[in-house]
Formats: sequence, structure tokens, C-alpha cells
Amino acid sequence: PIGVFDSGVGGLTVVRAIRALMPGEDLLYLGDTARVPYGTRSPATVDRYAQRVAGHLTRRGIKALVVACNTATTYALDGLIEAGRRRGIPVVGVITPGVQAAISVCHEYVGVIGTEGTIAGGEYARQLAQLAPNLKVSSVPCPLFVALAEEGWTDGEVSRLVAERYLAPLKDGPDTLILGCTHYPLLTDAIAAALPGVA
Ligand code: DGL
Repeated sequence: PIGVFDSGVGGLTVVRAIRALMPGEDLLYLGDTARVPYGTRSPATVDRYAQRVAGHLTRRGIKALVVACNTATTYALDGLIEAGRRRGIPVVGVITPGVQAAISVCHEYVGVIGTEGTIAGGEYARQLAQLAPNLKVSSVPCPLFVALAEEGWTDGEVSRLVAERYLAPLKDGPDTLILGCTHYPLLTDAIAAALPGVA
């Protein structure tokens, strides 16, 4: 199988996308719900968790690894790629594909939302500056979205109010928004309602 992991249910949004693109593949998913969230933990802790999860999946015989977590991609991807190379297992993260997708639709201003760890790590801002230096970029951490998604509170008043509060600084701003956490697509309706007209 292809191994896929995240801190919890968020990476299932990536599983859904992989299934649509490669319906014939076997997937082995690990959601580390014992230790969710990753987004509020130190870089060293996220790296350690990611290495353990990757080791576990590797022992189960995976042929490739998808790091379906932006926080783990921020802090652990380089080490996981290196370890994968030694075992002949290709490893991909989620940040570069997200940057490329955003650049393909953005006109002039892109917003990035993610966990505290992902936003503090600055990987999205770095790659956007490198690949599309003309774009304006604003980044906002939205940590409670992870808890809402894990809890299954993906629509209704609570998620709408939380989205409005977090996204107020981006109102009348970006034309494109990167959901830089794999839990956030589960809250797309609330996020889109707070930022109407944004791609
Ligand atoms: N879904 C993960 C991400 O993409 C982590 C969320 C969390 O555990 O804080 O960053």
C-alpha cells in the first residue's frame, strides 16, 4: 500500500483526493489521534512523532509515504525524505502542491491559514516568495479548526462564528486562500461563508 498519515482525521481529505486520482491503489492510513493536535507542539516533538509514525508504516511494508499533515511537512519532511531514500520509499508532503495550486489561480494576494506550528514555521511564505515573488501573502493561524474537525463540528453556528473571528483580518484582502492544514477542508463551508468570493 501507499502509507498516508496525519495527526487525526484531517489526512482523510488527502486520502479522498488520492482515491479520486488513483482508484486502483491500496492505501494504509494512520491518524495519530492519541497525540492530536500536532499544531501546538514544538518542532522537535512534531519531528519525533512523525518519525515514529513513518517507522510504523514502513514496517507494514508501504511502497511510498504521503505526509498528509502540513505541520509534519513543515518540521519533519526533510528527515523523512532522507530516511525514505535509504529504504527506497519515496516521500511527499502537502505544502509544495498547495503552493503550486494557489499560484495557478491567484491574481495578486494569497492568504495562508494553518496551525500555529505551520504558520510559525513559515514554509508556505518561503515557497510563495520563491515561486511567485509578486504575490502579496498574509498568514493566519487557526488552531481551533482542528478541534472542531476532530469533534465533527464542521457546520453550524459554532464553526461559522469561529471562522468569522479567525478570518476577520483577511476580510476584503486575499483573492485566494490556502487551507494549509489538512483538517481545514472539512470546514470549507464555514470558511467560504466568512470569505465570500475567495478561491
Ligand atoms: N492536519 C494537520 C496539519 O495539516 C495537523 C493538525 C493538528 O494536529 O494540529 O497541519
